[in-house]
Amino acid sequence: MRRPLPDAWYCVGQASAFAGNVLRAVELNGEQIVLGRDAAGALFALRDRCPHRGMALSRGGFDGAALTCPFHGWRFSTDGRCRDIPTLSEHDAADFSKIAVQRFPVAESAGFVWVNPHLGPPGEPAALPDLDFTPVGSLVVELVVEASFDLTTLSLVDPGHVAFVHDSWWFRPSKALREKRKTFRPVAHGFVMSSHATATASPVYRVLGGTPEVEIEFRLPGVRLERIAAGEKRVANYTFATPLTADRTMLTNALYWNIAGLNLLKPVARPLMRQFLTQDQQVLQHAQAGLDRKPTMVLFGQGDLPSQWYFRLKREALEAARAGRPFENPLETRELRWRS
Ligand code: FES
Ligand SMILES: [Fe+2]
Repeated sequence: MRRPLPDAWYCVGQASAFAGNVLRAVELNGEQIVLGRDAAGALFALRDRCPHRGMALSRGGFDGAALTCPFHGWRFSTDGRCRDIPTLSEHDAADFSKIAVQRFPVAESAGFVWVNPHLGPPGEPAALPDLDFTPVGSLVVELVVEASFDLTTLSLVDPGHVAFVHDSWWFRPSKALREKRKTFRPVAHGFVMSSHATATASPVYRVLGGTPEVEIEFRLPGVRLERIAAGEKRVANYTFATPLTADRTMLTNALYWNIAGLNLLKPVARPLMRQFLTQDQQVLQHAQAGLDRKPTMVLFGQGDLPSQWYFRLKREALEAARAGRPFENPLETRELRWRS
């Protein structure tokens, strides 16, 4: 239960970073994975380990069709199968057709590449995040947090930390805590909260004018999708948590918009977004140090219910996978009150 869900899609980087005959090494849930795009543009994800003597295949060459291990030249096609062992003599009777590198499911959505590091039989992971509009601009910030996947993911569903951690003037002009009352309902593999932004809401919402409608969805394994709509105007603020190792998690924040004028704000928005993520990073790292000394939490009050829901959703996903049955969302529609 403490480990990240094995059968789930995790964000491993921006789709634009995977191009040409370039191999990229990524860490995912303790696994080393090499990714690339073949000459036809299809993505592939293989374990970054040559079966011969363990060499990282990402250190070798790639010609758009095959990867060449830099140690002894074994060649593998992008499906992982060994195609050639150049050091074999014609008189060598060895059959290398059974040698293969582990292959992982890989997909592209919302401008990102996603990998499912699961090795068992295919299950029913939560759907990939996608966008329901065509963006004219986007902004992406990635940050590594020295904290567990669970602790980092809880920050995506934790209303209680916002007033204390994200207290920058541009995000929370007023320091006072106010009573909040929001309805949450279950959706596939998660829950969603919809509301109208109030006049006192963050200036980030006010940039859109009017009273935008805001919808914030959380879904397994660690995905927060904030969708803001005002008439035809759309802004989406997506956050993805990716487990790199047991104690390092990557946070990816992607902001997309369909309003051409917002492109001008990009140089200003980037450092603010980085500042926002750094606030989470710093507090999470200190909290992790405390959890390392004693790994218990007291989840208390309605503001901590979404955190409890996260663990319930995760437990259900694990139990459903173990029993080989479909995932059944254990949550119910519920109104929550808290101060933030
Ligand atoms: S380690 Fe890869 S070819 Fe020898
Ligand atoms: Fe946060």
